[in-house]
Amino acid sequence: MSLRGDITRALSVEAGRRGVFGSSWEYFDEIGSTNDVALRAAEQGAPEGALFVAGAQTAGRGRMGRSWHSPPEAGLYVSTIVRRGVLAPWITLAGGVAVAEGIREATGLPVQLKWPNDVVAVTGHAFRSRRKLAGVLAEASSSAEAIQYIVLGFGINLRAAALPPELEGRAGSLEGELGRQVDGGAVLAAALEALNRVTSDIEAFGPSQLLTEWMRLSPSAHGSDVEWDGPEGVRTGVSAGIDTQGALRVSTSSGIERIVSGEVRWK
Ligand code: BTN
Repeated sequence: MSLRGDITRALSVEAGRRGVFGSSWEYFDEIGSTNDVALRAAEQGAPEGALFVAGAQTAGRGRMGRSWHSPPEAGLYVSTIVRRGVLAPWITLAGGVAVAEGIREATGLPVQLKWPNDVVAVTGHAFRSRRKLAGVLAEASSSAEAIQYIVLGFGINLRAAALPPELEGRAGSLEGELGRQVDGGAVLAAALEALNRVTSDIEAFGPSQLLTEWMRLSPSAHGSDVEWDGPEGVRTGVSAGIDTQGALRVSTSSGIERIVSGEVRWK
């Protein structure tokens, strides 16, 4: 079946567990970027949970100004709108947890998170071989007083065709890892269920459950040799978990440093 068919089938059952997420959805065979479509829709008043899915993107974008390779029917290219302001500080971590949990739930693949929200397959000793399978990009629109809305976009590589040639060896796909076909609709539905659960928990109880889940999905966030680009060059240290704000803690020769944005490289 086509990706659109898989999604139609998966989203037509058990809608209650997804809450608002996917209560309305629109599919584009090809679009520039689903985040742009969702940003425009949010600006025009579309509600939280409205979902935009594309079979292909011609201008898919990733974090840190990178592009997101989005060839036809090879990946899930999805964006949704979040309006609850209380979620704003946590939406990036929440998106990563939701996508990782959704993949685990729908496929059984034991994916992990790499700070802040790369979803990776890990094999080998000490996290030596790590292939990125999915990524999350949250973009917010704020006024002087408050965040108006957030668009949460995620891309999941379903098939090998989704892998950018320049990331040979550093990116992977669900089907490549599992050696069998994957139902993209089931992965999307499970990710939306997890997103509903995680965001409801944050709203009701605060972020502590999210932070615990994130740590459980990210064994490499503790005790890994890492390096990152600081203002005065490359810095190194050993990862020491995340703090209550979601920053990565790194133990360095001059004490614990907090990394709040950007990315770290595992050595
Ligand atoms: C990352 O750099 O890891 C984040 C990648 C996010 C890609 C998704 S695909 C759907 C949505 N639309 C975009 O243009 N980007 C996000």
